Amino acid sequence: MYPKELKKSLQKVEATREKRLGVLPKRMSAKERDEVLQQYHPDYKPEAKRKLKVGASKGAIVPHEVADLLEAYPAIRAKDIDLGKVDYETDLLIIGGGGAGTTAALYAYYNGVKPENILIATKLRHGDANTMMAQGGIQAADKPHDSPAIHYLDVIGGGHYANKPELVAKLVMDAPGIIHWHERLGVMYDKKATGEMITIHGGGTSRKRMHSAKDYTGMEIMRVIRDEARNIGINVLEFSPAIELITDSTGRVCGAVLFNMETEQYYVVRAKAVIMATGGFGRLHIQGFPTTNHYGATADGLVMAYHLGAVLRDMDSVQYHPTGVAYPEQIVGLLVTEKVRGLGGQPVNVDGEQFVHPLEPRDVEAAAVIRECYGRDKGVVTPTGMRGVWLDSPLIDIIHGEGTIERRLGAMFRMFKRFDIDMRYEPILVFPTLHYQNGGAEINEKGQVLSASGPIPGLFAAGEVSGGVHGKNRLMGNSLLDTQVFGKIAGESAAAYIKKVKVDKKLSLQHVDAYREELKKKKIKEERRAPMVIPDYREQKVLSRAIDIL
Ligand code: FUM
Repeated sequence: MYPKELKKSLQKVEATREKRLGVLPKRMSAKERDEVLQQYHPDYKPEAKRKLKVGASKGAIVPHEVADLLEAYPAIRAKDIDLGKVDYETDLLIIGGGGAGTTAALYAYYNGVKPENILIATKLRHGDANTMMAQGGIQAADKPHDSPAIHYLDVIGGGHYANKPELVAKLVMDAPGIIHWHERLGVMYDKKATGEMITIHGGGTSRKRMHSAKDYTGMEIMRVIRDEARNIGINVLEFSPAIELITDSTGRVCGAVLFNMETEQYYVVRAKAVIMATGGFGRLHIQGFPTTNHYGATADGLVMAYHLGAVLRDMDSVQYHPTGVAYPEQIVGLLVTEKVRGLGGQPVNVDGEQFVHPLEPRDVEAAAVIRECYGRDKGVVTPTGMRGVWLDSPLIDIIHGEGTIERRLGAMFRMFKRFDIDMRYEPILVFPTLHYQNGGAEINEKGQVLSASGPIPGLFAAGEVSGGVHGKNRLMGNSLLDTQVFGKIAGESAAAYIKKVKVDKKLSLQHVDAYREELKKKKIKEERRAPMVIPDYREQKVLSRAIDIL
């Protein structure tokens, strides 16, 4: 139920609906895209970022919130931890129990690592991750009108040509095989009565290649791969985030210090190889934006890898999903899947006018929404002063037939229904929300994490923590795909590495103390600790979207 203040605008949306049916604004030219990005996308505000003072990417420009974290003092010193006492001995330690970590575990197993020699250590419960929250779909060019080459061009174009080409090639080439693997395991993708996969467009895609399981795609994938990992007998330690990596005396990564959140004890894990699959940084609330991300998304992996000398890339760009909830306030910032637009929902302003093609690449679409609300003053203002634009969802059932919203957007339908908003008959109010870390710790095509002098031995990464796949802007459906493809690659590479490696038994946290010294030398005050592990909401004013937009 919308408040009476919004009724007039709602009537305009309704009155213009029929005229808008089947009519879309032209896609923007490259020049128009550039203009709207420069003026309205939060990434293009230089005052929101600064140069890193320390570490392997010293001088790189990153958001202040990321710099604050990377310039915080490590949570432990070497002397705090008794490395002589090893609590868990394993071949492969995987840090993170989301889509990337779980897939890495499975592929390590397929490549010869025994399940009892694989340990997934995860901050919350197995599966508490952004994968679980991913709604709209996973891209794969597996239909006759499409090809990995076309998918490749979409990814590179969407990423503003900043992606690492060899990683994009892996992403798109492995995609059809991943869908096939999921099908064999039992993922229930949406299909026509003929058995053919249903695929739709996402923002910036030139072919319909978005596969989905209603709007629970990530949850469905996670359900199946988690079951598979559990059935195989892969070990999982829950509520046990890693807080620092451990090396041997030659600098090879050979374990991590875990923090048991229940007992508040530290545990030492010794492993032959480590895969980092810790996800992204949504909970840093860059520029005060709310987020679609789960509570554990605090960039811990990025911090640990950076302490060890990993190079970061594309950390100057942040993904704001164009359509986060803007009303009701209880769910502000939660995801309204791009699939709503993929199925025909149109963004319209306070007067019911279309102002942007519904499926521009994400950064362009988000900037256009911000422009409408703050540049052209054509946004809808809620009683508490929040702004947003309408996403005219009733068009979906008009276009595809009654029942489509309930059938294909069940999660979304129920989320709004709880607040007495029926998206079959009423539009929903949206505004950009912090969604994804485009960059991260740079990897190569084997999933190895790179330092300034080459791969860091024993350290692999997959998923959102890693950098290079998406350039400066990820397209919808390529995040689930990234977790799966690079989870697979990291698992395979780590399995091959484990067979050959000889780890020196002497463990070290020397790099942590060295990082501390570097901070001290730069006269950085010891005011903060990292990793953050769990966001602290006691003082921050984030959920009211305290954004100084312009
Ligand atoms: O809009 C969405 O469903 C989000 C998908 C994604 O980020 O890949």
